[in-house]
Amino acid sequence: MCGIVGYVGHEAAAPILLDSLRRLEYRGYDSAGLAVHSQGRIQILRTVGKLRNLENALAEKGLPGSVGIGHTRWATHGRPSEVNAHPHVAGPIAVVHNGIIENHLQLRSQLEASGVTMSSDTDTEIVSHLIHRESVGGHDLVTSVRKALAQVHGAYAIAVLSAAEPDRVVVAKKASPLVIGVTRQATYCASDIPALLPYTNEMVFMEDEELAVLEADGFSLSTLGGAALSRRPRRISWSPIMAEKAGFKHFMLKEIFEQPRALEDTLRGRLDRENGDVLTAEIGLNEDDARNIRRVILLACGTSHHATLAGRYWLEDLAKVPAITELASEFRGRDAIVGEGDLVIAVSQSGETIDTLMAAKAAKERGAKLLAIANVNGSAIPRMADASFYTHAGPEIGVASTKCFTAQLANLLMFSIWLGKRRGTLDAAQARELVEGLARVPNLIEERLKPSLDAISEMVREFSDARDVLFLGRGLSYPMALEGALKLKEISYVHAEGYAAGEMKHGPIALLDARVPVVVLMPRDRHYERVSSNLQEAKAREAKIIGITTAGDAEAQALCDAVVEVASTHEALSPFVTVVPLQLYAYCVADHKGTDVDQPRNLAKTVTVE
Ligand code: G6P
Repeated sequence: MCGIVGYVGHEAAAPILLDSLRRLEYRGYDSAGLAVHSQGRIQILRTVGKLRNLENALAEKGLPGSVGIGHTRWATHGRPSEVNAHPHVAGPIAVVHNGIIENHLQLRSQLEASGVTMSSDTDTEIVSHLIHRESVGGHDLVTSVRKALAQVHGAYAIAVLSAAEPDRVVVAKKASPLVIGVTRQATYCASDIPALLPYTNEMVFMEDEELAVLEADGFSLSTLGGAALSRRPRRISWSPIMAEKAGFKHFMLKEIFEQPRALEDTLRGRLDRENGDVLTAEIGLNEDDARNIRRVILLACGTSHHATLAGRYWLEDLAKVPAITELASEFRGRDAIVGEGDLVIAVSQSGETIDTLMAAKAAKERGAKLLAIANVNGSAIPRMADASFYTHAGPEIGVASTKCFTAQLANLLMFSIWLGKRRGTLDAAQARELVEGLARVPNLIEERLKPSLDAISEMVREFSDARDVLFLGRGLSYPMALEGALKLKEISYVHAEGYAAGEMKHGPIALLDARVPVVVLMPRDRHYERVSSNLQEAKAREAKIIGITTAGDAEAQALCDAVVEVASTHEALSPFVTVVPLQLYAYCVADHKGTDVDQPRNLAKTVTVE
């Protein structure tokens, strides 16, 4: 994981680097550091813990200079400590790194055998020594970086300073993300777009095995092998304010409340309400392709995986195409059968999650067609895919995904409608009803956000001490139950399990007593009666029931100890409305307990390690 930044310009580098790091803190936050060219040498500042510690140290010590690099860390090799914090230094070289050097043990013993003394447990320090060794051999910084990286296997985005070349930062990448930002006076780099938004909208996305030299008046791009490349910056439409809290206590709450807007942006221009169809050239398939798909394989991790579970129900129900979902890490870990005729949909908010990226790559190499559903424009998975169907949720900063999840649901449902129409499995009236219903979803969510927050923040007083919480649902509510449990675990550290309601009697029922709240998702759908029976089974074990029920459903409400009402929708649209109270429930419990909602312990927003 980790986030890296760099700046070459005429202003004080340290405050800019710190500000950019703050916007990347979601990538890791157990230590941080800066390196700046100052008065003929490189000065380093590193602190353990969150960025505010680095900020305090900077206020005390100062770090003058207008060329520098920075890092925020999520520990992979070596515990969080000052010596393991980046930048790592070897002689006149300082390096920040995001990724994992796979052959680090072998390289470490070679370096130690040649007399190098390591001062940290990290894989990154090895890279700084390799570059130093090449520069001692008489090479300039660019050549030293090239020669060092030729010895390295693994994933990296690095930014490098050399005391001998004080006007530049050299960056390179393979598998980990890196974007360059340009203005007339300065050049920046960062692991992700939001870090640079306050400074520029003009960005260049680096590809794997590329290297760039950043100077105040521009940058030069080449392959790691040395072939010159030219790439024009793209204009990014996100505004910096989109990545600010806008008066909300936490980014997560702001992002939950942004869902109506995120959905409107994601649906905009894609719903043909007149003809009851979905308009999208972005899908990259023609009518024949749509009819000839043999199978759809949905690959993702974490919350995005839960979106794919709903996607599978829609694809089978509406487009009658066999669909499977698999955790990307498992798919790539086994000899999965995939090939021509398969459409692989890789779903990822960041577009950079390494397991999803590698699983999708393997599927594509074996002949499958690859469609990306991602939120970050130009990220690695869309760049590799045959086509990209973006969500337009804007930057998501809270580590626990919310608005990107509902936007992913929207894209998966739109795709299923589009496919169902082309395969003749969805008639005009059904399609029109779904398209109309989907167009109304942003409003349905909006109307209930504030009342739900009020009801839930009251409710959690009673339930926030629970050590275990069970979430139950059937059909499309089952993946939402999984998502509700994941949200609660992630940010409040309460043990929670999502279960298919029908499975409760095969295990979880043994856990139930008066101390275990059970959240039952029971919209008025075809599963209602059976879920209601499962609710009664839980109630008979004295469990306290929190019902997520359709507004006005007095019958269900009479059975529950507490209720959150959701809007009545078409059955296929229920996930959009049932998941929002679950996000709010997790948020309110975490806020009540005082945990770090936006940056929960041990987690990171973008997981670029396997
Ligand atoms: C991390 C994040 C989750 C996210 C998952 C997959 O675990 O904390 O919120 O769902 O990665 O990320 P992706 O960017 O691929 O959707």
